[in-house]
Amino acid sequence: MLIDTYGRVATDLRVSLTDRCNLRCTYCMPEEGLQWLAKPDLLTDDEIVRLIGIAVTHLGIEEVRFTGGEPLLRPGLPGIVERVAALAPRPQMSLTTNGIGLKRTAAALKAAGLDRVNVSLDTLRPDVFKTLTRRDRHKDVIEGLEAAHAAGLTPVKINSVLMPGLNADEAPDLLAWAVEHDYELRFIEQMPLDAQHGWKRDGMVTAGDILTSLRTRFRLTDEGAGERGSAPAERWIVDGGPHRVGVIASVTRPFCAACDRTRLTADGQVRTCLFATEETDLRGALRSDVPDEEIAGIWRTAMWGKKAGAGLDDPSFVQPDRPMSAIGG
Ligand code: 5AD
Ligand code: SF4
Repeated sequence: MLIDTYGRVATDLRVSLTDRCNLRCTYCMPEEGLQWLAKPDLLTDDEIVRLIGIAVTHLGIEEVRFTGGEPLLRPGLPGIVERVAALAPRPQMSLTTNGIGLKRTAAALKAAGLDRVNVSLDTLRPDVFKTLTRRDRHKDVIEGLEAAHAAGLTPVKINSVLMPGLNADEAPDLLAWAVEHDYELRFIEQMPLDAQHGWKRDGMVTAGDILTSLRTRFRLTDEGAGERGSAPAERWIVDGGPHRVGVIASVTRPFCAACDRTRLTADGQVRTCLFATEETDLRGALRSDVPDEEIAGIWRTAMWGKKAGAGLDDPSFVQPDRPMSAIGG
């Protein structure tokens, strides 16, 4: 088991397959000048499968999510999925992608054993998409979403980040469109993970703002009403159902106390949190013939050092050196 000093148990592993991306979302990457990881520093497909195998058989990981950068840029992805699907116990597998290239790969990934996808889409307006991602690829994302749905990578989820002055007014339009196309939409508050370190608490669109905006057009009911008492919901039933919408308040209502995640970067470092300032190297151990059992031990020790929370709302918060693209979402 992966357990920390606060009693949290990690069952969800996020694996970043590359730090590269074919978009340049302003909340994630700079326009140019980002230093990529060098090829020899990246884990090989074999190394990734071995580490996931250790996580599943020795550490109690039940769910594996592939992220990036953009994970579809990794040529070996279908092979990795296929080999992870053959592990016992077989973990649930999902992919967080910007959707570009999904049109081409969705069916093959489903056949290889992928269960679900999360596609990032922040706007329905191609011109706003171009400003936000600095690339004119809106159509590719829409087609990627359709292909994922057709391939049965369901429920197809959409992640949206709202940015002041760009797409902050789009929440109701995005929800109406998602409901119409049978996608499950989740809004994520913008976190301080941009490479330029330009995030400001003051300017951000909060979960509260998003709910207020959605309620101008939809009736939202708390999915867990009764069960969790007065705890604010993360998922809401839209107009009586069956559709749901998620609002993830990573900044204004952090859920660190319930965190069940551990992360692996593309260069083989364990991160216990998106906002961790320390990493634990597994690549070195992999490349010096350390047995699985011992690598599992290094991972357990890293988990034991997991901090209570990120403290994004705390004045003493320090943004991690690596941007989102190099950590994995
Ligand atoms: N804040 C919130 N979400 C972010 N993502 C990328 N950067 C940020 C950020 N700074 C989202 C992407 C994608 C997922 C991996 O995380 O839009 O959906
Ligand atoms: Fe690429 Fe995702 Fe970062 Fe956008 S948020 S630049 S799609 S890695």
